[in-house]
Order: sequence, then C-alpha cells, then structure tokens
Amino acid sequence: MNIFEALRNDHDIQRDLLEKLVDTSGDSKTRDEIFKKLRTELEVHADAEERYFYKPLIDSDKTQDKARHSIAEHHEIDELIEKLEETDYSSSAWLKIAKDLQEKVEHHLDEEEHEVFQMAGKVLSEKNKKSLAKDYEDHMAKER
Ligand SMILES: [Fe+2]
Ligand SMILES: [Fe+2]
Repeated sequence: MNIFEALRNDHDIQRDLLEKLVDTSGDSKTRDEIFKKLRTELEVHADAEERYFYKPLIDSDKTQDKARHSIAEHHEIDELIEKLEETDYSSSAWLKIAKDLQEKVEHHLDEEEHEVFQMAGKVLSEKNKKSLAKDYEDHMAKER
C-alpha cells in the first residue's frame, strides 16, 4: 500500500460517517455514536496526515503552499466540530452545522485526492510513498 491508498481508504470512512450523520435526528443515541466516531476519525486522521504526508510536502517548494492550505482547512474543520460540541443535539441548528461540516470535509477530501495527491506524486519517491503509508497506518492503529 502507498500513502495515497492509505489516505483514500480513510477518506471513504469519513464520507460514509458524514452521510450517516446528516441522516440522524434530535437527541438520539445514533447521533451521539456517529458524531463521536466521526470526530475521532477526523481528528486522528488530520494529525497522522500532517505528520506523515504534509510534513514532507512542506519541505518541498513545489508543494509547500498546497500543504499549508490543507492544514488551514484542518483547522476550519476543527472549528466546526467544536461548534457541534457546543450545540445541543436537540437544537435545530445542529443538523445545519453538521451539513456545513459535511460540505467542508467533502470539499477538503476531493481537493486532497484530485490536486494534492497529483503534486505529491511527483515530489515523493516510491520508497517514501510506501514508508509513509506504514507510518501513517501505525499511527492510526494506535490512536483511533
Ligand atoms: Fe486532510
Ligand atoms: Fe485527508
């Protein structure tokens, strides 16, 4: 497995959880369970991705700007998660924020897969792509 495949697999987990999340309603056990699962997925993924994907990309002039842009989006995603934490599950605003989160994350994942991966493919060596995947997977297994 290379780093792109590893990241893409987890992006699909996020897409699936987001779809399930916006299908929940009110102060329900399902909403609570899916939200907590998604929150962990997003946080652990962003952390591992910054360490084992964006770190080497920031070190290269060709990919530095793109990497910084993506990391800024991780912070915007964090802020939406915080907003959800501060809002009651029973509030009508909750679903609205959850939909904003879905839109933001899906945009972010598409941009990573369609723009960042392309550029990164030229910057990282084949050996690098494999060893980063292993480091990324190890981190995910430990922190998830
Ligand atoms: Fe990301
Ligand atoms: Fe990602």
